[in-house]
Amino acid sequence: MSLTKFSPETLDSILSRVDLVELVREHVHGLKKAGRDWTARCPFHQEKSPSFTVSSEKQFFHCFGCGEHGSAFKFLMKIEGLTFPEAVERLAERTGVKIARGPETLAPADRERLRIREALAVARDFYHAFLLRSPEAQPARAYLARRGVSAESIEAFALGCAPRSGDAFLAEARRKGFAEGLLVKAGLAKVPEGRGPRDFFCGRVLFPICDAKGEVTAFGGRALEDPDPKYPVPKYMNSPETPLFSKSRTLFGLFQALPAVRKSRRAILVEGYMDVIASHQFGMTEALASLGTALAVEHAALLSRYAARVIVVFDSDNAGLAAAARGAETLLHAGLDVRIATVPEGKDPDELLRRSGVEPFKKCLDDACDLVDFRTTLALKGRPAELAPAEKAAVARDILGTISRCPDEVLKAEWVRRLSHRLRTDEESLLRQLHKGGPRTVDRGRSSERVAGPQAPRSDLKGLPHSDRQILALVMRRPSLASKVTQSDWSSPVSARIWRALCSADASDASWPARLVGALAPEDKVLASALLVGEDPSDDPDVELAAVLWRQRRERRLKEIEPLMKGDAPVDGAIADEYRKLLSELKGTRK
Ligand code: UTP
Ligand code: MN
Repeated sequence: MSLTKFSPETLDSILSRVDLVELVREHVHGLKKAGRDWTARCPFHQEKSPSFTVSSEKQFFHCFGCGEHGSAFKFLMKIEGLTFPEAVERLAERTGVKIARGPETLAPADRERLRIREALAVARDFYHAFLLRSPEAQPARAYLARRGVSAESIEAFALGCAPRSGDAFLAEARRKGFAEGLLVKAGLAKVPEGRGPRDFFCGRVLFPICDAKGEVTAFGGRALEDPDPKYPVPKYMNSPETPLFSKSRTLFGLFQALPAVRKSRRAILVEGYMDVIASHQFGMTEALASLGTALAVEHAALLSRYAARVIVVFDSDNAGLAAAARGAETLLHAGLDVRIATVPEGKDPDELLRRSGVEPFKKCLDDACDLVDFRTTLALKGRPAELAPAEKAAVARDILGTISRCPDEVLKAEWVRRLSHRLRTDEESLLRQLHKGGPRTVDRGRSSERVAGPQAPRSDLKGLPHSDRQILALVMRRPSLASKVTQSDWSSPVSARIWRALCSADASDASWPARLVGALAPEDKVLASALLVGEDPSDDPDVELAAVLWRQRRERRLKEIEPLMKGDAPVDGAIADEYRKLLSELKGTRK
């Protein structure tokens, strides 16, 4: 990815028109003013207290937890999974800045992503048209009709059908100029060993899987018949993971559910494709689903951008219950208010809705209980009313584990109170046990990759010498002051490097913070980025800097001559005078 594809003027005029705080607010819930900056819980990693910081003045963000940082471009790239050129284009549109750029100026990896997107969109249209119009798709149409899927749902979810032939889409895509290799990368074709390329999907009803913007990133395909034990074809098949598609970051139905979820700040998490479609069809438009996998930390982070509450609806079989509890735990940890609803008699929402209409489903959502209640009920199921002490202790430890993962202290206390009722045990000892366990002794949920813990180097501001930190904060606040500082004012080499970069950066425009960080060596970036936000040193940086430098320079000189004064050798009179003067000047300010 290269910045040189767009002129610096273009990038700068975009950045000077976009409001990063506004942009962040559209994607991150709970952004709050903190001094000069804004903070929220970081959308890029799991955390309980806000360390994600946005500086309105610098148009720059930094997370003190995971070290992620950058300008509006970087934020949009990360939050929506865009390439740099895509993010630039989007913000150019938003700000009305014209950019002249043909696709030939894209970096190869970006061009490929764009092409994959195009191929997926072509595939969606092709399969959708095939479902609606081809005589060959009659069985698929009959299947969907039998399952009660309305014409509106078929449109809203752009459902499709893959021809049985196994190469019809390939032929069409080739005609449109897509290379075979690209189709394979897009998950639309495969090359079985010893044979020519074939369509990835054949003879299935297809469910396009979209990102939050409604762009197709993958497909789920259902066999038309329930699997025959003699020919075990999988009931559902998903696209393989591709540069655009990762299961752990994708929720089926998210795009269709977003308007409702944004409005109510509530999401309904169901298990399957058909559950999502049936729910929407019956007016429960906040429904979405993971793709047959356990709920990942990334899913929870994604949901927490749009929703404050999630109702997890799972089958009431044992596997369903266990999955619900695990998923709910992950959501809880992301700071979401989680409830668990179970559909009676081992049905799934799709069957319940179809058989009994929307009322029983609504009732089951209303009856949803919170995670601690749910887990307590599970733990006590089939046990005598009065537990043996050791059993009681084991259940308590188990549930307290869940309680300790909740980021909300008031809720925690309430849960402990309820647990004490249900276990018929004393609240005080539960509280003691809770604090003994400590909030950090528990695992942090599953993550397929790097989201759970801080992965980038931490921005260890505290590791900087105090005076360096003060000076850096001031020159970052007002870059024109950098020229007042000299090399010998610095105590640590990192500080000096950041200062030098700042001196040679042209800080007259809106994108200097991003350019400054961009120009630094990787190991210095996070620290510099942390210095750009978060500190609010002074209302009068000029005066403050002069004062800090004045003291700093005198202290340094004092340290130089102090050993001479304390030594046995005779001391030059001028040095002795200087020493006394320094001492009196620094009187009261020395540590
Ligand atoms: P279910 O087996 O509960 O299927 O799997 P369902 O959604 O109720 O399907 P219908 O009603 O029989 O059509 C739940 C989800 O698990 C994934 C799919 O995402 C499915 O929606 N799954 C299931 C697979 O990925 N592969 C499979 O073979 C089965
Ligand atoms: Mn089903």
